[in-house]
Amino acid sequence: MTQSLRLAAVAAALTAVPALAQSPVRVTAATPEAAGEYLLIVAGCHDCHTAKWAEAQGKVAKDDLLLGSNVGYRGPWGTSYAPNLRLILGRMTEARWVEVLTTADDGEGKPPMPYHNTARANPEDLKAMYAYIKSLGVKGERTPRAVPAGQEPTTPYINMVPVVPKP
Ligand code: HEC
Repeated sequence: MTQSLRLAAVAAALTAVPALAQSPVRVTAATPEAAGEYLLIVAGCHDCHTAKWAEAQGKVAKDDLLLGSNVGYRGPWGTSYAPNLRLILGRMTEARWVEVLTTADDGEGKPPMPYHNTARANPEDLKAMYAYIKSLGVKGERTPRAVPAGQEPTTPYINMVPVVPKP
């Protein structure tokens, strides 16, 4: 099969799968903030939204968490940046937070933000994440605006287009 036929087959298989439902499973802890703190770690949010999280193996000061990253992710969608969630939560309501994380997998949101995963989350878990980020307080700067496809980013970026080795 040629590469394009194989991709078409994958696309056909994907449309045959029904939309993923929100999970009835949820995390409970002493406080919503404690549940949110845990969820943001195990759901991998810091890997993109906290600068140097992976490099420091998660040993980042609490005050520096979730401030976003100026290293872009470049692909067919252009170049996107994981935004500063603490700044965003200064103006985003809890209802909007849940809405963005459960509906942006309709094509509105850009990769590599895993909206297809957060769309399955129990809304109570998403609210717990919101409570924790709110408790950290507003801090930091806005990350760069997304760069449209075909334009050169002026920041460092990670190229997310797979490199296919020559046979
Ligand atoms: C692989 C990197 C990556 C991971 C992991 C990731 N994000 Fe993101 N996130 C991004 C990028 C890039 C954007 C910008 C996407 C866009 O423009 O739609 C984004 C956007 C968002 C937005 C939208 C902000 C707005 O103003 O609309 C929210 C909310 C968010 N992320 C929360 C989370 C949460 C919660 C998690 C963990 C469950 C998470 N992210 C995991 C990269 C990531």
